[in-house]
Amino acid sequence: MTSEVVEDEMEFYSKAEKYWKDVPPTVDGMLGGYGHISSIDINSSKKFLLKFLRDGPNRTGTTCALDCGAGIGRITKRLLLPLFKAVDMVDVTEDFLTKARTYLGDEGRRVRNYFCCGLQDFSPEPNSYDVIWIQWVIGHLTDDHLSDFLKRCKVGLRPNGIVVIKDNMAQEGVIMDDVDSSVCRDLDVVRTIVRRAGLNLLAEERQENFPDEIYHVYTFAMR
Ligand SMILES: C[S@@+](CC[C@H](N)C(=O)[O-])C[C@H]1O[C@@H](n2cnc3c(N)ncnc32)[C@H](O)[C@@H]1O
Repeated sequence: MTSEVVEDEMEFYSKAEKYWKDVPPTVDGMLGGYGHISSIDINSSKKFLLKFLRDGPNRTGTTCALDCGAGIGRITKRLLLPLFKAVDMVDVTEDFLTKARTYLGDEGRRVRNYFCCGLQDFSPEPNSYDVIWIQWVIGHLTDDHLSDFLKRCKVGLRPNGIVVIKDNMAQEGVIMDDVDSSVCRDLDVVRTIVRRAGLNLLAEERQENFPDEIYHVYTFAMR
């Protein structure tokens, strides 16, 4: 649990904000020097997501997606804008959202809102999103804030909408990273937080073909 590794909650958040302020607004910056794995990541995410957008009578709509912890819009540009009519982005780092306006190019006109806000303080507009995508950012929230945020995401979903978490998973327990002020949780801890938020897991998949030296990465779909 984060309560065991996060000593000072205010400092946990302010340190992370400071860390990201100094990171260059580039794909490599978003991925901590692993910019070269971006295409593998996006291609797998597309395959995962299309199962929900294509299958059956209860298929997920394509009107609007929300990119959470969006950074410069790496995912918005290559995954969400090609599949959804409109996208909203939310991130705590103002400079990344500013960069997004040029990085996204012409298609960026379909980004409806750039919300500069910590996810711990953000409430998606109710009944607004077909997909809420949360990638490589849950470690910046405490357990309670993550569970509360997921509850608010559930309210933000349109009919047949899904919340997707894609993130690093620890082998066991909760591991603190003092450099960027984040935690990495194991699969059971994440599943417990999802359940506590009142969400049901629909799919869970391990990312393949990532470098051996990094954490395992899992994608979860839920509603
Ligand atoms: C590892 S980057 C991932 C960016 C993007 N999701 C991607 O995969 O390209 C983490 C992002 O989370 C943002 N972030 C950190 N703490 C946050 C918080 N509490 N609320 C919202 N965004 C946060 C950072 O500004 C940064 O853009």
